[in-house]
Amino acid sequence: MLQGKQITLGVSGGIAAYKVADLASKLTARGAAVHVILTAAAAKFVGPVTFAGVTGNPVHQDLFAGSPDFAIPHIDLASRADLLVIAPATANVLAKLAAGLADDLLSATALAATCPVLVCPAMNAAMYRHPAVQKNLQVLRSYGYHILEPASGRMACGTVGQGRLPEPAVILEEICRLLQPQGDLSGLQVLVTAGGTREPIDPVRYISNRSSGKMGYALAQAALQRGARVTLVTAPTALIPPPGAEVVRVETARQMLEAVLAVYERMDVVIKAAAVADYRPARVAEHKIKKSEAALVLELEKNPDILGQLGRHKRPGVTLVGFAAETSDLLQNAAEKLRRKNLDLIVANDVTVPGAGFGSDTNIVKLLYADGRVQDVPQMDKLELAHLIWDEVLGLRRQAEQ
Ligand code: CTP
Repeated sequence: MLQGKQITLGVSGGIAAYKVADLASKLTARGAAVHVILTAAAAKFVGPVTFAGVTGNPVHQDLFAGSPDFAIPHIDLASRADLLVIAPATANVLAKLAAGLADDLLSATALAATCPVLVCPAMNAAMYRHPAVQKNLQVLRSYGYHILEPASGRMACGTVGQGRLPEPAVILEEICRLLQPQGDLSGLQVLVTAGGTREPIDPVRYISNRSSGKMGYALAQAALQRGARVTLVTAPTALIPPPGAEVVRVETARQMLEAVLAVYERMDVVIKAAAVADYRPARVAEHKIKKSEAALVLELEKNPDILGQLGRHKRPGVTLVGFAAETSDLLQNAAEKLRRKNLDLIVANDVTVPGAGFGSDTNIVKLLYADGRVQDVPQMDKLELAHLIWDEVLGLRRQAEQ
């Protein structure tokens, strides 16, 4: 799928540069023409011969070293590229890009580039958390650069935390997504919530529900495939988030509310597939509760209704979609939730039916619209259903624009 694509790959000086040789090889194998820019620091980690070997193209290191094919290296490397990828992007390179410096081949090429730019930061976790780095990333986002968040885990320096360069396969998927023809959701910012919230009882126990997160993750994946910018606010699940989503991990309903409100302003569509606990233990025991002869009584207090709050503060132009997992009176309950929460669409499913609801790979739902329409949807794979829901959301938005 990368046949005929021109990718300029900027490699800066971090230990993760060794993974990028594999990325360059994978891109080349998929048909892309890869032109590597090595910064002086990057060349201390991996030599130019490696990158020339895996790409079959000469490697560029010097702002002033023109060649017959690249007479003015920073202009030619920028203007011919369908995509500029910077991986790993060190803290130093992020600062230079944010400030608009152009004192070497990579930074000058980035300034001259008019194509999409994908930046993959990688560094020690403390460096990554530093406000200066975070501020620079914000600035780069405001320029429209795509930032692929670093992964968490053990790093070469021996520390554990967020800062690892994502695996080449993950970067490759993101590159494919960015080079895809624009999807019908491009230009839309969407928020999807997923998973079942956990409400702590004591340090080792919690109250939760049977939500697997599959439906929410499928909605996020489908939206990414169709070009949307996706924020996924997720309660704990056993699933791997789709690459390209901005992922916010939460546990409790109150944390989910906070995470949702922090981004609600800039969203065009919100789909609340999460199963939010309606109640939480009124008191969380500081220490593990020990058993005794007497019965244990837990007092529960109400959680905020997240979707209800969004509905009350709904801006014109925003599409709100909810889910209703029911065990009885499906249509009546779902219609009541649609009205009470001021939704445009509610996806109702009877979780007692085999092949529908929690943990299943398929779902059987009814779609209820604000105008009273009801659509029966037969059993289908959750990803297929996710695409159908996005089709409906697009339809509603087009109708509203008329
Ligand atoms: N929801 C929410 N916040 C809550 C409870 C639910 O945002 N505290 C959202 C869910 O994500 C879902 C929709 O509201 O999209 C309906 O959830 P559901 O639990 O079925 O509805 P409730 O209003 O909690 O009604 P009940 O539990 O009484 O059936």
